[in-house]
Amino acid sequence: MKIIVAVLLVVLATPANADNTPTTGATTLDGVFTSAQVQRGKSAYTRNCSGCHSGNLQGEGIEPPLIGDLFLDAWREDKLFSLYDFMQTRMPKEGRNTSPGSLAKPQYLDILTYLLDRNGFPAGMQELTLEQLTTTQFVGLNGPAPLPPSAMVRWVGCLQVNDKNVQLTQASGPTRVTVIDETDEREIAQSKEAALGASAIALTNVPQLQSVAALAALAHKKVQAKGVLNVASGVSSVQVLSLVSTGQDCSTVGN
Ligand code: HEC
Repeated sequence: MKIIVAVLLVVLATPANADNTPTTGATTLDGVFTSAQVQRGKSAYTRNCSGCHSGNLQGEGIEPPLIGDLFLDAWREDKLFSLYDFMQTRMPKEGRNTSPGSLAKPQYLDILTYLLDRNGFPAGMQELTLEQLTTTQFVGLNGPAPLPPSAMVRWVGCLQVNDKNVQLTQASGPTRVTVIDETDEREIAQSKEAALGASAIALTNVPQLQSVAALAALAHKKVQAKGVLNVASGVSSVQVLSLVSTGQDCSTVGN
């Protein structure tokens, strides 16, 4: 029994992003946009965004900065599409002369490259395209890094229930997500296709979310868990707000 506990602790202590490092596709460090794009983005930003986020991108009052560590921590270890999608659907924030989604898509794209440029990422030879947003990984200036605490994440793995302790084994993740209290068919399909991994991650809040019977029915099933990443003393756990089965049995999906 002691051995099992020791093994478990070692697995739990592996960095939360162990499986999150992109193996293919470009990152924001690879020169994924051009200087011409940045220049266009700068004028679009000045016209449409600087009134609230200020000319130096530092923000003011309730308008957050679009530059620096806080900004990078809010969006890195995810595809560039998430930041683009936020800007395109939510910005410019509703105001007297502003409404979300009012710019053309290429303008949002140009503004995105301006933000990347000002945050210190290098320009390159090829313009960033809308298609590349879903394959380009937003990493910090030092490359891939563990997710910051409180990041919203999705994990896929085999649910193990041991009294009050709930965890995922053979887990892969975390994937950064923008919604944690619900899911949809598309996401569940992605989780169903996701290969199992080698990590284990403790899940909290599950008894509050599921009845004892519902939880028992999920045991040893391949599940998708979404929630808030907690990191205490170097050990990660997820405070779960959505837990669903992929419909697969862990004994049959293999590795
Ligand atoms: C009327 C004021 C206003 C304007 C104009 C505006 N924003 Fe915002 N922006 C905000 C506020 C307030 C927030 C905080 C989040 C929220 O309230 O939705 C925000 C949040 C953001 C965020 C998220 C920052 C983070 O770290 O989470 C981004 C990115 C952003 N804005 C980009 C833009 C871009 C690009 C434009 C121009 C196309 C723009 N904003 C125009 C007020 C504004």
